[in-house]
Amino acid sequence: MSLRGLLRFAACLALALPALAFASGRTPKPEIIIANPGHCVEPTEIMRRNHPQMLLHQRDLTVHEGIRTSKYSLKGCVQCHASKTTGSVLGEKGFCQSCHAYAGVTLDCFECHASKAKLAGATP
Ligand code: HEC
Ligand code: HEC
Ligand code: HEC
Repeated sequence: MSLRGLLRFAACLALALPALAFASGRTPKPEIIIANPGHCVEPTEIMRRNHPQMLLHQRDLTVHEGIRTSKYSLKGCVQCHASKTTGSVLGEKGFCQSCHAYAGVTLDCFECHASKAKLAGATP
């Protein structure tokens, strides 16, 4: 490649890199909306990392060994994290689904478990 060609190549690269950075910057970020004031069952860092183990482990204990603790209850997650507008943790901006969609995770949990919070006073 001639020096001139090389310079052109370098210039193209310099133009292309910010464009690439821009493109990746446009990937939709999960929209983490905290619908209720208060605190989670564990600090945020622990929740981000360990919530699957909390839930999956507890599911095993509950279903297979009949042990029930309510600290990491799935009902509890839904009750606190359901959206004020849809009442659900699912949907495009739903707390659980928006982050899972971003992370490429799919769950079957809500085929059986309620994805909506129970309204105060409503009959189950
Ligand atoms: C085929 C139906 C079914 C599916 C799918 C399912 N569960 Fe369950 N789960 C149950 C039943 C039945 C119980 C026991 C009854 C109860 O406690 O509500 C239970 C109980 C639980 C409990 C303890 C009760 C509570 O509310 O905390 C947790 C936690 C739980 N499941 C988590 C999960 C998670 C996480 C998934 C997805 C990875 C999942 N389940 C998928 C049927 C299901
Ligand atoms: C009492 C209400 C409440 C309950 C119950 C609850 N959360 Fe939270 N959660 C919060 C709040 C409030 C935050 C924001 C951080 C904070 O202040 O703790 C949060 C933060 C989180 C985060 C971090 C979000 C981020 O910014 O990345 C995850 C993940 C999470 N919760 C998942 C769960 C799961 C899974 C359960 C059920 C095992 C659950 N939460 C139960 C209130 C709750
Ligand atoms: C801040 C992002 C984020 C939020 C919010 C979030 N999750 Fe997750 N979740 C993840 C990621 C990432 C994984 C995959 C983690 C892995 O494979 O180690 C995951 C995995 C899971 C799994 C295990 C799936 C499996 O079959 O292995 C369960 C169960 C789960 N999430 C439940 C929930 C529930 C219920 C909520 C809402 C209360 C929720 N998550 C909110 C990011 C999130």
